[in-house]
Amino acid sequence: MRRPLHYSWVNGRRIAMAAHHHQQASLRVLLPGLLLALLHQVYPVLTEEPGWDHNGYVLYCPCMGRFGNQADHLLGSLAFAKMLNRTLAVPPWIVYRHHAPPYANVHEPYSRFFQLEALSAYHRVVSLEAFMEHLAPQHWPPGQRHAYCFETAAQRSSDKKSCPMKDGNPFGPFWDYIGVDFDKSILFGAPAQFPVTEEHVGLQRYLVWSDSMSREGEELIAARLDRPYVGIHLRIGIDWQNACNMLERGDAGPHFMASPQCVGYNRQTALPLTMTMCLPDLMEIRRAVQLWVTRTSARSVYIATDSESHSRELETLFKGKVKVVSLQPDLAQTDLYILGQADHFVGNCVSSFSAFVKRQRDVHGRPSSFFGMDTPGKVNEKEEL
Ligand SMILES: *[C@@H]1O[C@H](CO)[C@@H](O)[C@H](O)[C@H]1NC(C)=O
Repeated sequence: MRRPLHYSWVNGRRIAMAAHHHQQASLRVLLPGLLLALLHQVYPVLTEEPGWDHNGYVLYCPCMGRFGNQADHLLGSLAFAKMLNRTLAVPPWIVYRHHAPPYANVHEPYSRFFQLEALSAYHRVVSLEAFMEHLAPQHWPPGQRHAYCFETAAQRSSDKKSCPMKDGNPFGPFWDYIGVDFDKSILFGAPAQFPVTEEHVGLQRYLVWSDSMSREGEELIAARLDRPYVGIHLRIGIDWQNACNMLERGDAGPHFMASPQCVGYNRQTALPLTMTMCLPDLMEIRRAVQLWVTRTSARSVYIATDSESHSRELETLFKGKVKVVSLQPDLAQTDLYILGQADHFVGNCVSSFSAFVKRQRDVHGRPSSFFGMDTPGKVNEKEEL
């Protein structure tokens, strides 16, 4: 039997942690570029209740950004758990509700938005909540909860010897919500990066919307939109402008956040990432929307946005002949659903939110493009000049 192994990321580094039973763990680092902590030990055969996976578990905090990043993190973790042949304890989504009640992080069970069973078609999963309720009391009791992390991560802690598992937001609130305190830290010296790799992209097919999300999304589409419709994602808010300024200053290369989805995953052959792709201006938004509305004979345009919707400008562009809708729903997932169902989608190359939509559409063979890139994998003519 192996202990639960969990990990998370801090500042781009993965922090691995494992639950202890009775013995010290031995760690081994494998595979250059993908450093894993493996726990090897032989336990005496115990009488276990059904449901306990003797190969062990992978637990982690989705502490890396908002929904799009959390979804990337999930795909990576799913592949990681399968490679280790351990059950993945699927964490709740962290929803940052700081602009409206309850003005705090909200933890939504995975199954609130997606079907947990659909993940099992790929690999063994249990919800982290069920793990804590049914398995942790016996198999991972308080007092034996050890955190594993890299020395570099421990440098962030006050004593420089502890894994900063619960330092700051969302780390602390997450593990408090799950009901976990860590009793001991075990450090190991190896830097690790864990980018979302190309091979994980296909795992998107196992993220299947829950019945309630599908029902709500379909009702909104039927009530508010006329097909065919073009869905667009405007990522243009102030935080994004600051991020894209890094690109303008030359502080970021073509691989910048989710950009491999459009410039290519290979660093050597990556296409240039232009400012228009990162932060489309109104002229580019008008150009791309006009192009795709014409090509698809769209009767409506759906806008998901992190700030302005520019819906009035687009209504003017189409002289009222195309319905322009922006719901700005309470849940980002509602936007994700509606964009996923559009007849054409125009996304932001650098955004992981757009990347989620693009992957979801690819699974179903639906066409997508990006601002500044009408044919993914090929920079627009005018950009090349
Ligand atoms: C993977 O784990 C499952 C469940 O614990 C076990 O039945 C199976 O034999 C393991 N596969 C390998 C290749 O070890």
